[in-house]
Amino acid sequence: MSLLSDLSDVFGDAFASIGLDRSFGEVSVSQRPDLGQFQCNGALPAAKPAGRNPREIAQEVLEAVSGDERIAEMSLAGPGFINVILTDEFLAEALQTVAEDGRLGVPRAAEALAVVVDYGGPNVAKEMHVGHLRPAIIGESIKRILLFEGHRVAGDVHLGDWGTPMGQLIVELSERQPGLPYFDAGFTGPYPADSPVSVGDLQLMYPVASERSKQDRAFAEAARQATVELQDGRPGYRALWSHFRTVSIEAMRDVYDDLGVHFDLWNGESTVHDRIQPMIDRLVEAGLTRLSDGATVIDVADEVDTKEIPPLLLAKSDGAYLYGTSDLATIEERIEDLDARLMVYIVDVRQSLHFEQVFRAARLTGIAGPDVVLEHAGNGTVNGPDGKPFKTRDGNLLRLADLVSMVVERATQRLDENELATGYPQEERHRIAHLVGMSALKFGDLHNHRTSNYIFDVDRFTSFDGKTGPYLLYGAVRIKSILREASERGLKGGRIIAADRDGERNLMLRLARLPEVFARAVEHRAPNQLAEYAFELVADFNRFYEACHILSEPDAARQGSWLTLVGTTLRQLELVLDLLGIEIPERM
Ligand code: ARG
Repeated sequence: MSLLSDLSDVFGDAFASIGLDRSFGEVSVSQRPDLGQFQCNGALPAAKPAGRNPREIAQEVLEAVSGDERIAEMSLAGPGFINVILTDEFLAEALQTVAEDGRLGVPRAAEALAVVVDYGGPNVAKEMHVGHLRPAIIGESIKRILLFEGHRVAGDVHLGDWGTPMGQLIVELSERQPGLPYFDAGFTGPYPADSPVSVGDLQLMYPVASERSKQDRAFAEAARQATVELQDGRPGYRALWSHFRTVSIEAMRDVYDDLGVHFDLWNGESTVHDRIQPMIDRLVEAGLTRLSDGATVIDVADEVDTKEIPPLLLAKSDGAYLYGTSDLATIEERIEDLDARLMVYIVDVRQSLHFEQVFRAARLTGIAGPDVVLEHAGNGTVNGPDGKPFKTRDGNLLRLADLVSMVVERATQRLDENELATGYPQEERHRIAHLVGMSALKFGDLHNHRTSNYIFDVDRFTSFDGKTGPYLLYGAVRIKSILREASERGLKGGRIIAADRDGERNLMLRLARLPEVFARAVEHRAPNQLAEYAFELVADFNRFYEACHILSEPDAARQGSWLTLVGTTLRQLELVLDLLGIEIPERM
């Protein structure tokens, strides 16, 4: 139903009518707006297999299409490009359809799938840092995109909550507070309801315990033992671990809430613990595993590999499970319990080998059948001005909570500098500063390609000028106020009529492109496509608003048409920003 697919049909028919494949008829938005609005370049790839001259083919296609009343002008350029300009009447009609559509022209997926988006991935007891920013923001956006496409999507935070760090913390705490009942194997009474440690205590203990494990063999052995006992279900350890988990989740929720990131599932590695041993037994029995120095592994290398893919480790010689073991069992769990058909993992690209191994193992073992899609949609890193992962002055990774406050603080200054939201109630002003800060953070992140790294620049991100989140929020708020003013004057939107000037025509052309942009965002798991679109939409709107003086327009039909365009622009902007996880204030 999009303009591009309609046009591609028209040109596809033309190619077919001269005996060539319809797929050559694909139309795209023009790279040369001075020559046309759209272009069809199919004559070039069509020429070689047909053994013909591309310009001749293009000429014949052009003749076959000419007469189509939707097209105002066509011209031939270069070796065989066809430039296309639509009639303003047809464009207006196409826009009317978009305006009337609750989904603004974006189709639903042909088939609704059960999808799990695995993102976030923080570890219990460990302070969240700048490295957790991108998976959270990108994952939230991809989840929303897939949801809007019509799938049943669950976002799973997939906590690291079951590995040796848990044993290390248990041992560390047993030394600091040996009198706690959790360490007394003979204790029978109910364990205390309140946690003996705060999340702050845990976050301080975590690096200490981890460092001790590296230095002190006896400590490391005790931690390994405690991990095994925890996993095997020793009641005191389970009770203590459950406190660790609860207080950590509370702290994580605060940070994620601030970021506007929300999970449907707070599962973790521990969720699948009970599945792991039966899974391994089954795989061993089926002859799918091999022993390697006492460890149980699955070979996942393939003859055609160009780089070495080592086997996936399922269990160490002492029986301990690994990161990949729980990921494999989690795939099985999601298929069985949620009927998941697609799993998308938003995790640092540096873990790509891990996911390659896990996915291959899932295929080879039949845990994931051919109807299940497994994807690692990796993310790049947030870098400091030196181009290396962002560090604080003392050389530590910046805490995520500090990063959030820093951005909100800068956003507050920006409001002052620009004399925005002045004289509003304190509470509303705080809320606006928060939303401006989050738009800065999210847009600053999401307009980069998912896999690339970017330099975190709080000054640039929070600016109201340029390609930034605050620029978009300001644009959206301005559109809202235009519509408010129109409605106060009793003006209403009407049917969209043919454009009579560029500012208006270009906005219409932009608004017609959302379906195609959305499709690309879905296909490549690429929120940056939508971020770019939001920016272009606001920029086109601003030019439109400069050229079209809506409130003083004497022609009521034109004024009504413009108001519908304004309303449609706002709806699209709201939709796109929502898909990016960016919230718009009512005013500022
Ligand atoms: N907790 C992991 C880490 O800190 C990230 C988890 C990513 N998700 C997954 N299913 N492996 O590296």
